[in-house]
Amino acid sequence: MKYQQLAEQYPNWHYLGFKRSMVDWILRALDRGNIHYHSVLDLYGGSGIMTYCLLEHQKSVWYNDLLTSNTLMVEGLLQATSKDIITKDNISWLFSHTPSKMYHHAEQHLQAYFSDDECRTIDRLLSNLVELRDTDKIQYQLLLYIISQALILKQGAGTYHKNTMNRRRKDHDPTSTWNQPVIKLMESVPLISIVI
Ligand SMILES: C[S@@+](CC[C@H](N)C(=O)[O-])C[C@H]1O[C@@H](n2cnc3c(N)ncnc32)[C@H](O)[C@@H]1O
Repeated sequence: MKYQQLAEQYPNWHYLGFKRSMVDWILRALDRGNIHYHSVLDLYGGSGIMTYCLLEHQKSVWYNDLLTSNTLMVEGLLQATSKDIITKDNISWLFSHTPSKMYHHAEQHLQAYFSDDECRTIDRLLSNLVELRDTDKIQYQLLLYIISQALILKQGAGTYHKNTMNRRRKDHDPTSTWNQPVIKLMESVPLISIVI
């Protein structure tokens, strides 16, 4: 059930093309249409949700996505074994370590979705993450996935919109997901139960 579980745990993010809510419908439609197929090209595969579910149904799948980050995350989730456990220490290292080289991607591109402080945190996380790339690729890929999931929640799943920051600024409810610290959101990504 690994692939189905992965599909179900994705934040319910509403954007054109997101297949989570349609996976079962697509599979049933293929069954109803009596379509016999063994291999699938998951073109523009994104989160990999179709890939996970089709693998669960014993199909051969070719996944394709323009974004290297998406490909890395999907590849990491599929290749992870029970030995590739991400601990709270792995996560807190990303926050506490001082990177040898600092990148400023978030500060340059993400202010529409995250505050200045959050952008600095994201840049630190990604700068530290890069240091793992050549030493432990699966850990690098799984942590990239965890960061990405946490930031979808932080940004507000279902509110992929330029007004997000305005809505967040008006919301002072400490229990709102987007008011939770990034580290807490990262620790809540249910990856460990999947890879064991
Ligand atoms: C709407 S998302 C895919 C959604 C996916 N079905 C899901 O449910 O997660 C579209 C994806 O297409 C990818 N993409 C855009 N242009 C592309 C291209 N020319 N070749 C491959 N992938 C592309 C983007 O990186 C993005 O991940």
